[in-house]
Amino acid sequence: MSREMMPSGLVSRELENFVLSIRLHRDGKKNALTRVMYEELQQIFAEADTDNQVRVILFLGGDGCFTAGNDLADFLNHPTLESDSPVIRFLATMATARKPIVAAVAGPAVGIGTTMLLHCELVYCADNARLEMPFINLGLCPEFASSLLLPRQLGYVRAAELLLLAEPFDAQTAKEYGLVNEVLPVDACVERAQQAAARLASKPPASLRIAKQLMKQSMEPAVLEQIRLEAEQFSALLQGPEAREALQAFMEKRAPDFSRF
Ligand code: COA
Repeated sequence: MSREMMPSGLVSRELENFVLSIRLHRDGKKNALTRVMYEELQQIFAEADTDNQVRVILFLGGDGCFTAGNDLADFLNHPTLESDSPVIRFLATMATARKPIVAAVAGPAVGIGTTMLLHCELVYCADNARLEMPFINLGLCPEFASSLLLPRQLGYVRAAELLLLAEPFDAQTAKEYGLVNEVLPVDACVERAQQAAARLASKPPASLRIAKQLMKQSMEPAVLEQIRLEAEQFSALLQGPEAREALQAFMEKRAPDFSRF
């Protein structure tokens, strides 16, 4: 398959030698994810799950910017997160993907740009990567089961540091905290991820899928339940005054003021 652009023109997929590469193409908005993009990503992951030609998924984000996370204008315009919303369907599909997922992260990786890494098997990070989970700063709460997986994987105080102080952190910190496998110069990152994906794709596919399933199966019900619980809280907060203030402030390019809450 040559590169196939999805109908929005903002997401593409390309299959080569059993590796399905996914890219984002919304440079002007730092690859912030809209509802349409989530729908297309969900479709890509769902189709990959049953396509025998796909053995590995390689998530590359966008050129120069992995993704700025959820589109904040979308949050203002659609302040609910029902269980059948494009976002929630995407989270459940990616969290239960049967094929291994490799990610190459460069530039900003904000919100889901960081939390999706918890659902990847191999993560390669460029030395210019800037990760961040600013949910609290936006009057929201953690998503994509990050409130469950981060404390387990990083330890409680590190998880609390990243989720509650919610400050950006660099690739080296992400490596030290066990969020990424390797930090590389920007120019080498995608190639390294492609090499790793190709190596995985050359392995016996059933064995690969079963190994992933065995590593994940004990946590999967808890992960799906946490995604549901987080979405309930997230949705309620999204409609609340703190998030309204934070989102308006972003749109107006000013600092939010939470002093009245
Ligand atoms: N949603 C909607 N638009 C976004 C966006 C987002 N998540 N992130 C960036 N943009 C837009 C900006 O509004 C700006 O649009 P404009 O040119 O029409 O004004 C454009 O993308 C470029 O962003 P800018 O902030 O100027 O780029 P930067 O290089 O200075 O900073 C980021 C990049 C990603 C660090 C910064 O844009 C940012 O923090 N974005 C918000 C991330 C966020 O909170 N995501 C939600 C997580 S739940």
